Amino acid sequence: MALYALGDLHLSFQADKSMDRFGSVWKHHVRKIEKYVNKIVQPEDTLVLTGDHSWGRDLAECEEDLAFIARLPGRKILLRGNHDMFWAVSKTARLNARYEGQLFFLQNNFAAYGDVALVGTKGYTFEGPFYLDVWGNIIGWDQDAQAQAEKLVARECARLEESFRQAAAAGYQRFVMFLHYPPTNILEETSPFTEIAERYGAEKVVYSHCHGLKRFGDSIRGPFHGIDYLLVSGDYLNFKPALVLP
Ligand SMILES: [Fe+2]
Ligand SMILES: [Fe+2]
Repeated sequence: MALYALGDLHLSFQADKSMDRFGSVWKHHVRKIEKYVNKIVQPEDTLVLTGDHSWGRDLAECEEDLAFIARLPGRKILLRGNHDMFWAVSKTARLNARYEGQLFFLQNNFAAYGDVALVGTKGYTFEGPFYLDVWGNIIGWDQDAQAQAEKLVARECARLEESFRQAAAAGYQRFVMFLHYPPTNILEETSPFTEIAERYGAEKVVYSHCHGLKRFGDSIRGPFHGIDYLLVSGDYLNFKPALVLP
């Protein structure tokens, strides 16, 4: 039994949006996902997909993408990404009922992996606009956009706390925390998300959303304050699921 994670599949069986223009790593990326997930993930394993599953604008336009995910081996747990238009938070229970036994939608709830609780939410990070000097150093940013981002961070933190709270109330003491957005942005060393992870003693924080060489280093990777941070964006991993726990 093993726990794997992979993010940002960006499927579009129906929405018909090619990812090829984002670089060679995205060429035939669906075939790579199929090949590597089938090779690495066993039926008894758990695979957490950390958001940006589909380009579809609503559930009807995502059905083939979700069916593709459902056919992958193992137990599939899905997190919301910023592009997942089919998944309003208020519809999570409905999605879980509809895909019962096939997919689990992680939002304001948690999933058990042995004695470890898998908790999470989409998260949020301020991504600019930033103002740069001629050398490319950040010398300022849009204050209104940052104020708006702080509200979204607070809302996502409340959702994350709810996930932790339910898991702790059920008796879990070990946690792996999942986010779609990186836990910190390029201005931050720590954030409300890293503080929550530390407060609950999460063993690992797993996130994705960062695409392309220039963005892979935007947040924490590796050990920080006793927690292991893993970036699992599909293009970062060449679409090979990352082992989170054995
Ligand atoms: Fe993405
Ligand atoms: Fe994203």
